[in-house]
Amino acid sequence: MEKVVPFIPSPLKVVKAALELAKVGPGDVVYDLGSGDGRVVVLAAKLYGARAVGVEVDDALVLLSQMKVREEGLEDKVKILKKDFKEVSLEDATVVYLYIYYDVIRDLMLEKLEGLRPGARVVTLEIPVPGWMPVAKRGVQDEAGVVRTLYLYVKGVSDPSSWKNEEADPKWVEEFRENLWGHLRRGSSSSFSLSP
Ligand SMILES: C[S@@+](CC[C@H](N)C(=O)[O-])C[C@H]1O[C@@H](n2cnc3c(N)ncnc32)[C@H](O)[C@@H]1O
Repeated sequence: MEKVVPFIPSPLKVVKAALELAKVGPGDVVYDLGSGDGRVVVLAAKLYGARAVGVEVDDALVLLSQMKVREEGLEDKVKILKKDFKEVSLEDATVVYLYIYYDVIRDLMLEKLEGLRPGARVVTLEIPVPGWMPVAKRGVQDEAGVVRTLYLYVKGVSDPSSWKNEEADPKWVEEFRENLWGHLRRGSSSSFSLSP
């Protein structure tokens, strides 16, 4: 297992903003790939009622995050896997959080993201997903007053494989995006297509 990104924690204010941007709720299964001290998965479960899976390769961080999960009494909702994120299955993921390098997403993770179920959301901090189109981009001030950038993507809307209908009326596409959260609320597993 190779550690391809160092541990740099996402500021807590930014984690909350990311989970809110992705509209995380009790029906979700949130994955943090490279979960560090477990802050994303713990907050997803504690504040938003989601189930969550942290994937981390560093022994000390795995232990620390497992301790946090126990302290918060979230063992039923949160799992920490000691695993390389390249090896993990995202079959049941409805939300994926990423704070890793651009070239790691491009070279190691893009194929995995392409395999997500339609309607799954991907939220990234600072780093856009190569070749995908965000449905939202938001600046959030962290605790130190620095503005951090969050990107939100939806599988089946943001990924190039969904851009089949190049003649789609841009106004219609815009309307579709505006209605996107209505679709998501009806179930994260519902599929999206840009074809009218
Ligand atoms: C920038 S930190 C982000 C931590 C956490 N997601 C957060 O936002 O606070 C990246 C994390 O990825 C972990 N990591 C690096 N390479 C990894 C790999 N191949 N598999 C799993 N985790 C890895 C690091 O140990 C580190 O904790």
